[in-house]
Amino acid sequence: MKHPRAPIVVIGGGVAGLATALAAAPAPVRLLCRAIDGTGSASALAQGGIAAALDPADSPLAHTEDTLVAGAHHNNVAMVRWLCAQAPEAIAWLQAQGVAFDRDAGGALKLGREGGHRVARIVHAGGDASGAVLLRALLAKAQCAAHIQWRGGLDADALLLRDGAVCGVRAIDGQGRQHVIEASAVVLATGGIGALFACTSNPSGADGSGLALGMAAGARARDLEFVQFHPTALDVPGAHCLPLITEALRGAGARLRDAGGRLLMEGLHPLGDLAPRDVVARRVWQARRQARRDDGRVWLDASAITAEWETAFPTVLAACLKHGIDPRRQPIPVTPAAHFHMGGLVVDGDGRTSVPGLYAAGEVACNGVHGANRLASNSLLEGILCGRRLGAVLAATPAVVGRGEHRWAERGSALAATDLSRLRDLLWQAAGPVRRTESLRHYLLQLMAWQGQGWQARLAQSLLDAALQRHESLGAHYIAAPEMDV
Ligand code: SIN
Repeated sequence: MKHPRAPIVVIGGGVAGLATALAAAPAPVRLLCRAIDGTGSASALAQGGIAAALDPADSPLAHTEDTLVAGAHHNNVAMVRWLCAQAPEAIAWLQAQGVAFDRDAGGALKLGREGGHRVARIVHAGGDASGAVLLRALLAKAQCAAHIQWRGGLDADALLLRDGAVCGVRAIDGQGRQHVIEASAVVLATGGIGALFACTSNPSGADGSGLALGMAAGARARDLEFVQFHPTALDVPGAHCLPLITEALRGAGARLRDAGGRLLMEGLHPLGDLAPRDVVARRVWQARRQARRDDGRVWLDASAITAEWETAFPTVLAACLKHGIDPRRQPIPVTPAAHFHMGGLVVDGDGRTSVPGLYAAGEVACNGVHGANRLASNSLLEGILCGRRLGAVLAATPAVVGRGEHRWAERGSALAATDLSRLRDLLWQAAGPVRRTESLRHYLLQLMAWQGQGWQARLAQSLLDAALQRHESLGAHYIAAPEMDV
């Protein structure tokens, strides 16, 4: 049956965007993506799997408790309960989409452990290639879904509003041509902001563009100060987007060591190397500063791992070998890296932002589920579950046709490449794993002088503003005492 209504425009081809688009059937969907072929999302790089209470000795309640502890109880408790209760069904749905999760010799799903989880509850696919496997399965479904039209190679840079509601998108193609697409609803599923930091585990496209676009349209944002730093990205000096060294390695017995070979997490936290990510990331940050003074580095010693690297950790193995390190025999040099944004556009449980017609799913959205610090392997889970929930809501929402004046909400021009690189350094210094009130103030003043020079600088300013307004350390937002040597 033909649908006369304007399409739902979904911006972003990661798991949240794909799950939304698939669940919106039979409503027509245009899926806009910066890459021509759907690559380039952070989902594709996700090594951790999906957390779900599948073991009979585990429970959604225990998963909920771990999520709340990691999130420093800043979470939206109802959302956490819902996410953890739905997680086993999300795994079943993914299996129905063709995702083959890793199994043990007896045929049972293999359950791994990562930071902040008291029990093994993470399923993986293709070892540490979970995100890529998921994405392949969902892309294949989306490509043959009759209601979805794929529009690759487009960068959305403005939203069209009529009568105060979002009703369209403007996007620029690789030749600089503008495309205007009328929409019954617009979904931002553009990912996070890791690429605005000097070191990130995200792809370069995770630059906060969807967040900037939503804010330009007047959508409320919250918790912008909460940026999660992964403790172990491969330490490639001078590189910006760094290969992730999955936490599942520590779940399988790898240990962090300082430049002198001492165990880094010994005696620091009851969960040791598997303490929540913010705790481990700060320790690695501090040890690196110390090590640099001694001309050394911080290492992940994976020599205790007995699993087959080729099947359990093919992504880490390939990344290390590419950089001349054989992790089976040599310790891996590691650094913290910006990994996940807990803050974002405020949405309700169904993904509605504060602007009618504008929705958000995945990392760009903030429904409060992750609190001040996301629990490992809860992000693909959120993308899948919230995307599907939003898609179903949109399918059932009649399109409203506005008749009044229209206006464009523009993201604005981008920073020049050299300024963007300076901005990344600035954010890393000002708002990295360890922050200081004085330097937040200092860098915010510097940024204000860039006023009007690019949307990335405006976004960074909002982040520093938010960080300055939160005086106490909480979760991933850590303010060092003035006398601390960090
Ligand atoms: C990892 O594999 O260490 C990252 C997983 C996640 O981000 O949840």
